[in-house]
Formats: sequence, C-alpha cells, structure tokens
Amino acid sequence: MKTIDKTKPVMVTGATGYVAGWIVKKLLDEGFTVHAAVRHPEKKEKLVHLDRIAQSTPGTIKYFKADLMVDGSYAEAMEGCELVFHTASPFTLDVKDPQKQLIEPAVNGTRNVLDQANKSTSVKRVVDTSSCAAIYSDAIDTVNAPKGHITEELWNTTSSLKYQPYSYSKTLAEKEAWKMAKAQDQWDLVVINPSFVMGPALNATVATSESVSIMKQLGDGSLKMGVPNMGFGVIDVRDLAEAHFNAGFKPEAEGRHIISAHNSTMLQMAQIIHTKFGDTYPIPNKALPKWLLMIVGPLANKSFTRDFIRNNVNIPWKADNAKSREKLGMNYRPLEETMNDSFQALIDAEMFIKK
Ligand SMILES: NC(=O)c1ccc[n+]([C@@H]2O[C@H](COP(=O)([O-])OP(=O)(O)OC[C@H]3O[C@@H](n4cnc5c(N)ncnc54)[C@H](OP(=O)(O)O)[C@@H]3O)[C@@H](O)[C@H]2O)c1
Repeated sequence: MKTIDKTKPVMVTGATGYVAGWIVKKLLDEGFTVHAAVRHPEKKEKLVHLDRIAQSTPGTIKYFKADLMVDGSYAEAMEGCELVFHTASPFTLDVKDPQKQLIEPAVNGTRNVLDQANKSTSVKRVVDTSSCAAIYSDAIDTVNAPKGHITEELWNTTSSLKYQPYSYSKTLAEKEAWKMAKAQDQWDLVVINPSFVMGPALNATVATSESVSIMKQLGDGSLKMGVPNMGFGVIDVRDLAEAHFNAGFKPEAEGRHIISAHNSTMLQMAQIIHTKFGDTYPIPNKALPKWLLMIVGPLANKSFTRDFIRNNVNIPWKADNAKSREKLGMNYRPLEETMNDSFQALIDAEMFIKK
C-alpha cells in the first residue's frame, strides 16, 4: 500500500498519445507538475493540445525527450517522481514486422521504464496501461471464459506473433511488468486493462491511435456499406483517465483492473452516431453479412483473416467490470455520450466531408 506525495511531479510516458492526453489533462486540472516523456519534443504539432490545456489549468507541464527503445532515456523525466504512468506502446494493427514494430517497443520499453524505476530512489508506484487484449484475443474467448465473461484472473493464451500480434505485445509487456514488480519492493504496480477506447480526441488531427482511425472510418464513407458486427467492449477515454488517476492515488489500489463500461458491438456503436449525424455524414447503419466478410475480408485487410472473422463477427463481447467499480470507484458514462462526443470532436477538427 503506497501513499503518493501530491506535491511531487508525476511522470507520464507517451504523453502525446490519445489516452495519455486525458491523463495529462486530469493531472493538470488537479494542479500537478507533469513530467511528460515524449519521443519527439521538437514536433510541436503533437504538443499544442497539451500546451493549451496547461495554460488554462493550475498544473505545469515539462517535456522530456525519451524513447522506449533507448535504454536509460527516462532517467531525467523520472527524477523526483513518486508516481509513473506508463502508457507508451504502439497501438497499430497495420504492421509489416510485428516483432520490431509491436513486441520490442512494448516489452523492451516496459523493461526500460521499470529498470529506471528500480534505479530511481523516488518512485513508489507505477500504473501500467495494459489492455483487455492481455486477457483475451477474440470475442469468442470472452464468451467461452469460465464465468461466461472475462475477469482479471485470465490471460490471453491465443495471440501470437502471427495472430493478433498487438494483443500478443500487450500480453508479453504486462507479464514483464509483473515479473519486474515482484522482483523488488520499492514500488508497487497497479495495472489498468482498458477495452476499446472511444471518446473525444484532444489531438484529433495528429492522432495515431487505432481508436481515432476507427472513429474516422465510421464517418469518412469507407464503411458506408456496413460494418462487421463484432462484439466490442467500450470505455470512454475520459473515464479511463479517471481510472488511471484513481489507480495512482488510492493507496489500497492493487492488481489488474478491467476498465470497460459497455459490452457492445461495432454495429451498436455505429448506429448511435448514425442516429445523430447520419443525415449529414456517410455513417454505416447495418451489418455486413458474415459470409460476405469471409470472401472479401482477407482481401481488403490482411489482419482480417477467416479465423479472425470466425472468432469475432456476430459474437458478443462480455466482461465483468465489478472490480473497477468497487475498488477504483468507477462510475461509467453512457455509450451514447461517448460515441456522440467522439464524433463531434472529429467534426470540430474538420476531419470529415459532408455527404
Ligand atoms: N486506444 C485503445 O483502444 C486502447 C485500448 C487498450 C489499451 N490501450 C493502450 O493505451 C496506450 C495508449 O494507446 P493510445 O490509444 O493512446 O495510442 P496512441 O495515441 O498511438 O499512443 C501511443 C503512445 O506511445 C508512444 N510511443 C510509441 N512508440 C514509442 C517509442 N518507441 N518510444 C516512445 N514512445 C512511443 C507514442 O508516441 P508518438 O506520439 O511519438 O508516436 C504515443 O505517445 C497503449 O499502451 C495502448 O496499448 C489503448
């Protein structure tokens, strides 16, 4: 059980990211000094949203250059911090070399950040942004789970370098984090396992997250014929920031936490925004038949294999978020608010053309 001194700076890795942006905002709102570790501090366009928030909040932001793949590069950013939020990890599904593009930054990067925590004398707690992807691979795994839904006790056993390599990277990285946490007793590890994150992007025009690219695809016409009706867990990015904050500062927080508000589907998510914005933007309103996906899916997208379609399309997604509500005090917002605010943020950033 660790109590964090709130007058000390707090470090956030991958501060330019979609998820991290809202964690940084929450910290700045609460008056903290944020040590924002970013890969390219010279790319000012990736920092403008954070600078803007810092100007209108009581907190202070300081940038530090750091790369997951460069050993020791988090030393300066971590100096004097008792709390570290480790969010940095590539979240992209379109990769040519999964070992280099996903596994190495996720696993070696986690090792790099935690090695630095071991070298520091200040760090007391690390909050690691893992994923529900470290718990399951396909929607069918959630239905087949012992209790009929996923829980914090389970691990993803079906992803690999060849099948769902992003999920594999998150599984290996979280396992590495637990191994390193158990080998010392200076800091404790609290893990956040979000489902699919939606909600307004603070950095819409430069965002790299798959969350933002899927939201863009729902409004740019590329899916206007229909969506694959896959089971999805959804969490609002603002609620996810709250979960990170509580995991950081509640002394009794421990272990893994499924952070997921809704057991939903891609179709349900699309239909919500179709109801509000469908007259103006080419948003899908129906599901593509599974047989059609089996034929065209693998041609359209190489990660959309027949195995993937079989294990995900027309299959519900089920998780139990009870621990997050009981231990982190989570109270999740409605899916309608999440989806509509996500879409509005992209309209405001002029990402869509009207139909
Ligand atoms: N979005 C979701 O649905 C979701 C769900 C569950 C878990 N997560 C987890 O949440 C975290 C953030 O994801 P996100 O959706 O916010 O994606 P994102 O916007 O793409 O953020 C990823 C962050 O990682 C940084 N990064 C990547 N490679 C790096 C490297 N070699 N060195 C230093 N930094 C590096 C990126 O920095 P640059 O800006 O320099 O590229 C960026 O800040 C990830 O750990 C992801 O696995 C996301």
